[in-house]
Amino acid sequence: MDSPDDHFGDQVAATYDDPSAAEFRPEVVDRIAGVLAELAGDGPALEFAIGTGRIALPLARRGVPVHGIDLSRAMVERMRAKPGGDQLEVTIGDFTTTAAGGGPFSLAYLVYNTIMNVTTQEAQVACFRNAAVHLAPGGCFVVEVMVPELRLLPPGQHVRPFSVTDTGWAYDIYNFATQEMSSNYVTATDGRGEFRSIPFRYAWPAELDLMAQLAGLRLRDRWNDWDRSPFTSDSTRHVSVWEKPR
Ligand SMILES: C[S@@+](CC[C@H](N)C(=O)[O-])C[C@H]1O[C@@H](n2cnc3c(N)ncnc32)[C@H](O)[C@@H]1O
Repeated sequence: MDSPDDHFGDQVAATYDDPSAAEFRPEVVDRIAGVLAELAGDGPALEFAIGTGRIALPLARRGVPVHGIDLSRAMVERMRAKPGGDQLEVTIGDFTTTAAGGGPFSLAYLVYNTIMNVTTQEAQVACFRNAAVHLAPGGCFVVEVMVPELRLLPPGQHVRPFSVTDTGWAYDIYNFATQEMSSNYVTATDGRGEFRSIPFRYAWPAELDLMAQLAGLRLRDRWNDWDRSPFTSDSTRHVSVWEKPR
C-alpha cells in the first residue's frame, strides 16, 4: 500500500487539528466519544489510525483505556503533546497488519473515512481481519465512512470539483473500474502553485459487510450518523457496528 506517512507527515500534522472544522467541534467529538464509550463498556478500546487523538483523548477522559495504532509518527507526536496524550499506548505501524498490546479489546474503531486510505480491497479485508483478531468475543468493530459520492457526478464525468476559490482548487477523481479515487488540491501562494494528491479506495456498505463476514464479524447496527439515526438511501455516510460472535 502507499505510505500514508507521505500524506500525514510533519506539515499535515501541524495543521490537522482545526477547531473551526465541523469534525473538531466539541459537541461532535463528545457525541462520538459517548457512543464509543457505551460500546466499549468495561473493556479497553483500540483505535486504528489514532492520529492526533481527536477521539482517543476524550474517550480516555471518559474512563476507557485506549490503545492506538498509526503509521504517522508526526501525528502521534501531536497527540503526545496534548494533556493526557502521553498516557495512551500507541504502536507505530499499519493497522491492516500490526498487532497492538493491551487486548483483547471490547471495541476497535476506525473513524473519519480512514478505511478509504487503505487503497486495495485485499488490504481493506486485512483491516477487518486485524480488527477481529484484537476483539474479545462480543466485542465490536466500528467504522465511520462516507457513502461513495457517485450520485453527485454528472453522467459521463469522473472528476468532481468540491472547492474552488481564488487561490485554491480541490477535486476528486474516480476510477469506476477499480474503485480507486483521489482527492487533489492545487493551491496558489504568492504566484506559486502547489499540488497535493491523496489516494483512496471507496467501497459500498455492502462490500464492507462482506469484508466483515470474511473476518468472522456480523453487522449489529448501521446508523446514518453518531446520533444513531437510521441509515437510508439518502445517507451520505454511515457508522457501522460489526460484532464478533460470542
Ligand atoms: C484523517 S486522519 C484520522 C485521525 C483520527 N482517527 C481522527 O479521527 O482524527 C488519518 C490517520 O490515519 C493514519 N493512517 C492512514 N492509513 C493508515 C494505516 N494503514 N495504518 C495506520 N495508520 C494509518 C494516518 O497516519 C493519519 O494519522
